[in-house]
Amino acid sequence: MMRVLVVGGGGREHTLVWKLSQSPQVEKIYCAPGNAGIAPLAECVPIGAEEVEKLQAFAREKEIHLTVVGPEAPLMEGITDRFRENGQLIFGPCRKGALLEGSKAWAKRFMTRYGIPTGEYEIFTSPGDAYTYLERCSFPLVVKADGLAAGKGVIITESLEEARRAVHYIMEEKAFGSAGDSIIIEEFLEGEEVSVFAVTDGSTYLAFPSAQDHKPIYDGDRGPNTGGMGAYSPAPVLTAEMYKEVEEKIFKPVVRGMQEEGITYRGVIYGGLIVTAKGIKALEYNARFGDPEAQVLLPRLQSDLFPILYEASRGNLAAVPEPQWTDDVVVCVVMASAGYPGSYEKGKEISGWEKVPAMENAIVFHAGTALKNGKIVTNGGRVLGVTAWDPSLKAALEKAYSITELVTFEGAYFRRDIAHRALGRM
Ligand code: GLY
Repeated sequence: MMRVLVVGGGGREHTLVWKLSQSPQVEKIYCAPGNAGIAPLAECVPIGAEEVEKLQAFAREKEIHLTVVGPEAPLMEGITDRFRENGQLIFGPCRKGALLEGSKAWAKRFMTRYGIPTGEYEIFTSPGDAYTYLERCSFPLVVKADGLAAGKGVIITESLEEARRAVHYIMEEKAFGSAGDSIIIEEFLEGEEVSVFAVTDGSTYLAFPSAQDHKPIYDGDRGPNTGGMGAYSPAPVLTAEMYKEVEEKIFKPVVRGMQEEGITYRGVIYGGLIVTAKGIKALEYNARFGDPEAQVLLPRLQSDLFPILYEASRGNLAAVPEPQWTDDVVVCVVMASAGYPGSYEKGKEISGWEKVPAMENAIVFHAGTALKNGKIVTNGGRVLGVTAWDPSLKAALEKAYSITELVTFEGAYFRRDIAHRALGRM
């Protein structure tokens, strides 16, 4: 029987813990730091997701068999390299592999080296060169900070003036700190976005079904970007034929490229894709499960998640039988604190749990929540991921939205148009 440590404390980690807790192979789960929803399923330990040394010592002390890393920051800190050096099994790519997410410039060059379809781009390390280049560009264009910028480092610009402002903001005002030492100026691609993940052990991979995220804060995809305000799976924009194209052009070249570069990549390859008139292109890669996409994918997984993550971490994914997925449509509506993605207050009591009858085909995943004096309170921007499933998309949406009327907190905000693109295709 296995002891597992899950690193992180958001909706994605609640989903991972929930799914792992169903495994007959898992005896005990710890989560660092966890949240109020994770607490009934796992022992939450007060260690931050980026406190690599403490996590390592904890994993050693508790004789953890597998550590599963949720967010990107510890991967970029080199958590995997540290665990591996000490013979501790961990799910997540090493620091070099995590550059796929941690450096957009590195990722773009990697995509070019391995023929992965993506937008045309130029990389700049000096603002002067970027301004000169912009003079001969047509618009719209995308200006991206190279490094991690909490999902805010991508600016779509409609004019030379806007593009110059974006370069100034990122490179000269240093809005995202050293993440803006380099920038990418990139072609704007027209199309519908879709997320597809694959778990890889470095030589083979297992692709998950498609999902679609909703990044802007307001209905109709307006307003500033967030970490993601809701998701659903499957995303009908991706036909079966396109899915094959994703495997061939998006996942296989990454696995081959990592191998050729001597990088042992054992973790998630997150394809942030766009379906354009000229085929599927990669907007970006991430090195971990998406959030809230994980909340709609893992409930569709009928098979045990533990052996998938365990064998991938051991380089032995081929030993895992083909996983089974339900045909249900899963939707997730994110309930956020008032003011998010700007500043917001914490500590609002979340009430109404008793009004939700024993939830069938639904679960409320916790993101930013904490326990205070025996009560569940808000503790972050994204607070809850209300997730429901059904063979019918409409019924799944009805169920999720009915729960948002019951479980609530002061200032709770959520989008009311989750899955609008899929509904539009019906
Ligand atoms: N849902 C977007 C992300 O996880 O980056």
